[in-house]
Amino acid sequence: MKEFQDPRGLATLAKSIILITGLLLSPVVLGQESPRVNGDRLEQSLMQLATFGRDEAGQPNRVAYSDGDIEGRAYVMGLMKEAGLEVRIDPAGNLIGSRPGTEPGLKPLAMGSHIDMVPHGGNYDGCVGSLSAIEVARTLKEAQVTTRHPLEVLIFTDEEGGVTGSRAMVGALSKDALRVTNSTGYTIARGIQRLGGDTLRLAEAVREKGSLAAYLELHIEQGGILEQEGIDIGVVQGIVGLNWWNVTVRGMANHAGTTPMNLRQDALLAAARFIQAVNEEALAMEGRQVATVGRIRAYPGAPNVIPGEVVLSLEIRDPSSEVIQALYRKIRDQAIGIASDSGTTFEFEALDTTGKPALTSPGIQDLIEANAADLGLSAMRMYSGAGHDAQDIAMIAPVGMIFVPSRGGISHSPDEFTSVTDMANGANVLLQTLLDLDQKNQ
Ligand code: GLV
Ligand code: MN
Ligand code: MN
Repeated sequence: MKEFQDPRGLATLAKSIILITGLLLSPVVLGQESPRVNGDRLEQSLMQLATFGRDEAGQPNRVAYSDGDIEGRAYVMGLMKEAGLEVRIDPAGNLIGSRPGTEPGLKPLAMGSHIDMVPHGGNYDGCVGSLSAIEVARTLKEAQVTTRHPLEVLIFTDEEGGVTGSRAMVGALSKDALRVTNSTGYTIARGIQRLGGDTLRLAEAVREKGSLAAYLELHIEQGGILEQEGIDIGVVQGIVGLNWWNVTVRGMANHAGTTPMNLRQDALLAAARFIQAVNEEALAMEGRQVATVGRIRAYPGAPNVIPGEVVLSLEIRDPSSEVIQALYRKIRDQAIGIASDSGTTFEFEALDTTGKPALTSPGIQDLIEANAADLGLSAMRMYSGAGHDAQDIAMIAPVGMIFVPSRGGISHSPDEFTSVTDMANGANVLLQTLLDLDQKNQ
């Protein structure tokens, strides 16, 4: 069912009865309709955020630490304040909007996502979850609902460059990661300073295990399953791990006109064979692993010089770290063979931008599914092939993730699109799941 449903439906009534015991403890007044988000306002804020961080050709390019990222964050901070949140920037650059609960002894319930994007990315990845979390806070404020738990909206730093902000929050952001540079040319360390963080005080951004009651993240699916199946809501069971390497292939730069074909040590040719091998090895294994070479640079980079050095990226993802390592070993073995055939060498540098595989809380999965049903929405359980901040936060708190359909399964592209109905559906499931978690003493 695609359309947003009448909140007075029978399913909602049945659920209100089930929740009577819990509600007696709650500041939500029985008999009142559950609040609902304002979908049009949510969409307008998404369109407004999309105006920040475009390149000269008008393409979305709000990469973390760019001027556009800084401008987008300023806009989002304004929205958080309008939603009645007190806003601060932690030393990792994460935006944290908070409001107290009625029982201050309880741990905060958190929700959020990210607003940075890949180069030439889309306007929905991360933004739907970030703006929906703010919309949920605003809806609660307007409905004069104060939760028992303190609430936090978390907009994480640089999700696309290695879940940087959430890694910092769980104490897993290493010094090596701080030296990694993204397409803006800034290192993560310099970038965090640009956002108003302080890399000398990163320890103060760390949250202890058990310090959050739960974390919820709404996100676009970024794949085509929900759309193909005609399902409104994805209940995420787990999130893949992902590892990155820089691979440097060294041959010998030489004259492209005078060096015979059989006397070349062409690093780019070896790299081409390697890229093919990456794809073949990933396909040859049973399972859901994926491997990608997404970036390649050849040096010295002239039409009349045989390339002497090539640096390329290698990314492998799977729900199991062991599978990632097993595929990596196979790919390395292939590189050894290609190197000896072509008179080149391969060096692999593991980058410390790893996302660890994570499972979501089964209890929260059940709540998400029940709330989707109450709202008259269809739902299915699924894994996330994309990385998310929730996978880091899973190290310190129970997490839940809600997916909404991506048109055509397209993501990390300016063609990303999710309808206002689907966004509002997801945000209402987020709101209801938050209110359900608030009934529990955590
Ligand atoms: C993050 O969006 C990723 O999955 O690359
Ligand atoms: Mn992304
Ligand atoms: Mn994302």
